[in-house]
Amino acid sequence: MYAFIFYFSALCSLSVVSLAEASKTPGSFSIDLIHCDSLLSPFYNSSMTPSHLIKNAALRSISRSNLLHFLVGEKESTETIIIPNYGEYLMKFYIGTPPVERLAIADTGSDLVWVQCSPCMSCFPQDTNLFDPNKSSTFSNVSCDSKPCTLLPSRQHRCGNSGECEYLYQYGDKSFTMGDLGVDVIKFDTEQDQGVTFPKSIFGCGFNNDFTAAKIGKITGLVGLGAGPLSLVSQLSDQIGHKFSYCLLPFSSNSTSKLKFGKEAIIKGNGVVSTPLITKPSSPTFYFLNLESIVVGQKKVQTGQTDGNIIIDSGTTLTLLEPTLYNKFVTLVKEVIEEEQNPPSPFDLCFRYKDDMNFTDIVFQFRGANVSLLPQNLLLLLDTNLLCFAIVSSNQQGFSIFGNVAQIDFQVEYDLEGKIISFAPTNCTKLG
Ligand SMILES: *[C@@H]1O[C@H](CO)[C@@H](O)[C@H](O)[C@H]1NC(C)=O
Ligand SMILES: *[C@@H]1O[C@H](CO)[C@@H](O)[C@H](O)[C@H]1NC(C)=O
Ligand SMILES: *[C@@H]1O[C@H](CO)[C@@H](O)[C@H](O)[C@H]1NC(C)=O
Ligand SMILES: *[C@@H]1O[C@H](CO)[C@@H](O)[C@H](O)[C@H]1NC(C)=O
Ligand SMILES: *[C@@H]1O[C@H](CO)[C@@H](O)[C@H](O)[C@H]1NC(C)=O
Ligand SMILES: *[C@@H]1O[C@H](CO)[C@@H](O)[C@H](O)[C@H]1NC(C)=O
Ligand SMILES: *[C@@H]1O[C@H](CO)[C@@H](O)[C@H](O)[C@H]1NC(C)=O
Repeated sequence: MYAFIFYFSALCSLSVVSLAEASKTPGSFSIDLIHCDSLLSPFYNSSMTPSHLIKNAALRSISRSNLLHFLVGEKESTETIIIPNYGEYLMKFYIGTPPVERLAIADTGSDLVWVQCSPCMSCFPQDTNLFDPNKSSTFSNVSCDSKPCTLLPSRQHRCGNSGECEYLYQYGDKSFTMGDLGVDVIKFDTEQDQGVTFPKSIFGCGFNNDFTAAKIGKITGLVGLGAGPLSLVSQLSDQIGHKFSYCLLPFSSNSTSKLKFGKEAIIKGNGVVSTPLITKPSSPTFYFLNLESIVVGQKKVQTGQTDGNIIIDSGTTLTLLEPTLYNKFVTLVKEVIEEEQNPPSPFDLCFRYKDDMNFTDIVFQFRGANVSLLPQNLLLLLDTNLLCFAIVSSNQQGFSIFGNVAQIDFQVEYDLEGKIISFAPTNCTKLG
């Protein structure tokens, strides 16, 4: 334990030394990730208070956890989805020739890239024109016997009347997209003027879409960043050296987080720690890690079984631990803090901030990588002096998620070929 002072204006005001530097090389690129509650987001609502936003994001985490648990387990979802959540970040890209701008949800928990297409049978409201494949000179249909089509699980594709590949992608709640798999140019804005272009990108041209999370007119589709073969990162894999990374900004920030691809994504330096990235044929979308133990001050809880026992996800705000581990963790934390009764839902462990209070070290020990979490990775400010842990129980035996608050101010690199995930403590605001 060490003496610790919380600063209140921002959630997080510790000085973090940037130990890692990303290298900049042409051919690699960086795009903006917009947090869905930030000033730059179409979801931004100026009448929401910060604690209101945090509570909503926490509730979305619970829905997301139920959704991911459903997708991992292929079981019936027993929990109701309270507020749908397909990822907390948005990204912009262009599709077709001439390029049509699209704003989409960026989701590490799903694989397909898709947009709403015309002629639409049933689409959710969208302020801009639907993407019309007939108006893109570079569009072509994917046939149902071609490789990209067969990469979809059998219950997710079938042959259309003209031999085209029809897909169906469901999201665990009532949301789904249905349409034809297509190939077209996808382009991203980059900090360099030109942008980057990927000519033969596979995407879903959705003619029948229902997407509960997107009913405000600004969202036009989704970009899957998961581990499955049709995700954006898997499709670009050869061109980006099989690497991408992100550096997530604190909640309160008004600027965009960066998603980097290729050489630019590589993190180096003394502060970098690495752990095996586990993929599972039974749940090909998700990135799993081995969490061995959690250190709380001088004490430690072991997780026991570690065969990819936690999903790392950018789209879940909270960290959710399987109940047995969570209960052991909470027992240790309660030894060092004075718990506040009746925490606001869905939080479980809150306390009142007192001047000069001591806060304990918390380290997530992944195999080969000790990740020391700072107060801004662990605590959310709910009220004038009520702090709540951004860690709750998943209520699902054996199911845990390492969420995005825990990843704030770390560069997190995914090496899909080396099957390694690396972390480096970084001031993501300074990284620019
Ligand atoms: C990160 O850098 C920004 C810009 O230099 C600075 O304003 C901020 O206080 C830094 N954050 C931390 C946690 O040190
Ligand atoms: C914005 O937030 C306020 C306060 O929570 C809410 O009453 C209102 O419906 C929200 N507006 C939109 C467009 O969601
Ligand atoms: C799109 O173009 C194809 C081939 O030219 C044509 O058969 C089809 O009717 C067109 N669809 C629409 C909706 O215009
Ligand atoms: C793609 O295939 C469908 C079904 O055969 C057809 O209706 C559509 O016009 C095709 N699109 C283009 C651009 O060729
Ligand atoms: C973000 O913008 C809002 C509204 O302009 C402002 O009140 C707030 O202080 C800004 N936050 C930061 C961290 O700059
Ligand atoms: C915090 O820790 C220091 C050093 O161990 C100790 O002197 C101090 O009494 C502790 N403060 C509280 C509020 O427990
Ligand atoms: C992680 O920390 C523990 C101490 O709790 C230490 O024994 C172990 O060697 C560290 N692991 C790595 C990979 O640094």
